[in-house]
Amino acid sequence: MENLKDKLFRLKKERNAVILAHYYQDPEIQDLADFMGDSLALAQAAKNTNADVILFCGVHFMAETAKILNPDKIVIIPDMEAGCSLADSAPADKFLQWKNEHPDHVVVSYINCTAEVKAMSDLICTSSNAEKIINSIPAEKKICFAPDKYLGSFISKKTGRDMVIWDGSCQVHEIFSETEVINLMAKYPDADVLAHPECPENILAYADFIGSTTGIIAEANKRSESQFIILTEPGVIHQMKKNAPEKEFIPVGSIGGCACNECPYMRKNTLQKMVDALENLEPQILMRDDLIKNAAIPLEKMLELSK
Ligand code: 13P
Ligand code: SF4
Repeated sequence: MENLKDKLFRLKKERNAVILAHYYQDPEIQDLADFMGDSLALAQAAKNTNADVILFCGVHFMAETAKILNPDKIVIIPDMEAGCSLADSAPADKFLQWKNEHPDHVVVSYINCTAEVKAMSDLICTSSNAEKIINSIPAEKKICFAPDKYLGSFISKKTGRDMVIWDGSCQVHEIFSETEVINLMAKYPDADVLAHPECPENILAYADFIGSTTGIIAEANKRSESQFIILTEPGVIHQMKKNAPEKEFIPVGSIGGCACNECPYMRKNTLQKMVDALENLEPQILMRDDLIKNAAIPLEKMLELSK
């Protein structure tokens, strides 16, 4: 009897498909991926693949980005309901109104946004290149940044650039408990604290390193400390353990003690849904040609600036 994993591998071959996965996926999915990365690395991999089909194990805006950058490919996602609270916090109509209220500004959007918002933006950035993208804008230009207010204010401080910032946030990073961070730092006094810039300022204040998921994983590997307190979605810990099994990685709980620091959207994807998607070539990312064309402009600029 063919088991689910065998079926996945057979279909992957038959479809000439590649599996791209984000670090917040379940460990089982991470181990089946051909390529893992943060948002920037996944966008680059999607652009450069020779496969006919991209099975994108991540959230909708990531799969949509893959389609925009490689429109001739079939892009499928295990669960079409895998959204993102940050992308949802910037509806296209409100974003257009906001953009029109700031006509003389360069509009920079974090990649965690819809294709419609991308198409209305001058530049896109990710958590790993945000500083570089903002620094590429001439000093005399005014800047609007959307949709993540925490990444926006972190980058504004880092670059010294004043920015008009959209009031959006990630529901996962917003609810880390400061009390628990303090308690864990007392319990593990030798641990380094690694954080994602989507965390609020009061949480980032405790971090020894702030960076993208790829950055955080690399830092945990590189640093000589043997214990790390992790302030991002705990999916990253799977790769950290694989890289350095002798080290200890401590996830932080959320306000109220719930397990809400697991991204509920990312975790919608399952092995069964991956197999079904490859078998049916659905759910598929389908977009209007003009939307693809317009959203590709700021994305391609970002890729060029990230080289
Ligand atoms: P990275 O680009 O750092 O992987 O972040 C993606 C994301 O959605 C974080 O919540
Ligand atoms: Fe969106 Fe937050 Fe989930 Fe990242 S962790 S995909 S920003 S909801």
